[in-house]
Order: sequence, then C-alpha cells, then structure tokens
Amino acid sequence: MTVTVNFSGYEGPVTCGPEETLLRAGLRAGLALPYECASGGCGSCRAQLVDGEVKTLWPDAAGLSERDRRRGNRILMCQSVPTADCTVKAPILDGPTVSREAVPERVTSRLLGRVELTPDTALFTLDFRSPIDFLPGQFMLLESPDGVRRAYSMAHPADGAGSTTVEFIIRAKPGGAASSWLFDKVQVGDEILVEGPYGRAYAQPGSERPAVCIAGGTGLAPILAITEELLVENRGRRVDLYIGARMAGDIVLLDRLARLNELGARVAVSVEDPDFAGTEPAGWAVFDDSRVGRVIDHVADDWTDLSDHDIYLAGPAGMVDAALRALVRERGASADRLFFDRFI
Ligand code: FES
Repeated sequence: MTVTVNFSGYEGPVTCGPEETLLRAGLRAGLALPYECASGGCGSCRAQLVDGEVKTLWPDAAGLSERDRRRGNRILMCQSVPTADCTVKAPILDGPTVSREAVPERVTSRLLGRVELTPDTALFTLDFRSPIDFLPGQFMLLESPDGVRRAYSMAHPADGAGSTTVEFIIRAKPGGAASSWLFDKVQVGDEILVEGPYGRAYAQPGSERPAVCIAGGTGLAPILAITEELLVENRGRRVDLYIGARMAGDIVLLDRLARLNELGARVAVSVEDPDFAGTEPAGWAVFDDSRVGRVIDHVADDWTDLSDHDIYLAGPAGMVDAALRALVRERGASADRLFFDRFI
C-alpha cells in the first residue's frame, strides 16, 4: 500500500511505498533527515508521530528509551513503516545538504563468495547485477528472509569502472539471528535482499587537511574504503591509518593494508593482548608501527594536537565514544571534522 507522509517543517507530502520506512521515503524525497545507524540502535532518527499509523520493524529497538515509549508517540523513522497517511515531526538537519549521497534503494543481490578471514570473520562478496553507487565509508542493510536487517559497511570505494560486486567484512555474533543466517544458512548463489546505501561518515571530497583514520574490529571495512579514497583522490596528502584489535590474529586483509601503505599511508597497528609484544606474525612488515595497547592510546601518544586534521573513526560504539571524547577534549580535534561510524 502506498501512503502519503507529511514531514512537518519540510515542504510537500512524500509518497511512501509498501514496506518502505519513513527514513528511506524521506531520504528518497531529498529531505535532510537525521540518522546514523539506520537499524534501530542509536536513536538519531527519533521523531514524533503527530497523526497516522506505522508498523514497527523492531518493537524493542534500543534507539527508543523507556521514557520515549511511555510518551506513546515517539518513533524511530528507520524502523517505522507507515500503514496509513501520516504526519511526522522530525528534526531538520543544519549544515550542508546531503545531495552527494545516493538514494537508498531495496535491491536483490546474490552471494558470490564467502572467504573465511578468521574463525568468526569472513569477507562476503555480493553481486548486484548492475553497478551500485555509494560513497566510501557507507553501509548497507542486509535483510534475512524473516526480516532481520543488519548494517554492514562496504570494504572498498565504489568501482567507477562499473563493477557490480561489493565486499563486506562480517563478524559472526554468537547466537545472533543475522549471523546464523549469513554464516550457516546462506549458500553461494543465494539471493540476499539489500537496502542502501546509508551512512554519513564517508570520505569528504576536496579536503587538503592531513587525515587520521582509526579502525577498531570490523570498523576496518569502512576505514579501508575511506583511506583508499583519500589517497587516490590526493596522492600527496598525509594519511595516518590506525588499526586496533584485541588479538594479533584478528588483523586481516594484510594485502589491502600493504596497498594503502604503497599509496602513501602510514599504517600503525595496536593489539590489546599483553602477550603480543615481540610476536609479530609473518607479513607484519607492512606496518610502520605496531604496539601493545588500545588503538586510541596509540593515536594519543603520536599526536598532541589534531586541530587541523580530518578524523575518520569506525568500530564498536564504546571504543568510538571513548575515542571521540579523548580526541576532542585532549587533542583539540574539531567536532565538525570528525566523521564516525559506531557499530551498535
Ligand atoms: Fe534510526 Fe539509528 S538511525 S535508530
């Protein structure tokens, strides 16, 4: 059923198709709606349902607080599919337009390959049949047949030459519904429904500033894409890439890190495992620097002032939040030059 949605504060009604969320309908219409995770976890897309009805994809979504739920009319636009004409009161974003971002679409892809990188992490390659447009650092929602959606970042920039394949680094979560589907049920050749691209923590074009790119865990995927884009766009630009992991064995895709090193990035790695010292595996010559400890401490040790840097950050929410606090308060990082993706 197609319904009409009025976003108060924005001009004109928006048409919302069957199974389309308010967020996607608004973005498709060119509205600068606020969002971050597009999957119910962060609360950035919280809005007020003034009238009408919506179906909620994830009733217990962490992005709504108990207080929000008690109010009764608070919704997450990324989890709400209208079932009747609606009026929604949503915050309006300030600042630059989002016109560079491709409109998120729902398309069917096919699993082309799944290569194990570690016992719980794999590189998934999906074929979209036609070229797909996205910005380096963005993500897509992969949807299981029973409607579970999970966000995964593309591990490379879009291929301007028209390739139809896209790679994702995916870590299995014990007991996770999406993990058991992606790792145990989907076979090479099977169809996978995908929605995207989403995300605003992408490589910013035209900047001459030096850049620091920081990845924790599977935050490696968007940071690989962003770092490659920055270096290809401007070969003379200084880019420092920091990779953080709990164990040395969690560091993957050394060949891609080597390529970024060849393109000019300084690549540093931090391993939290205290037994790591002096045990660098073969192939680690690619790193200009390797240390034991948290990646954010590594960055803080290297830099006393980051006020003239662009900073890209992706990884688990706790790591990203701690890093943001440290970089802004203690290293002078500028809030409007910080681009981050929290995995919630
Ligand atoms: Fe909707 Fe994160 S964008 S909850």
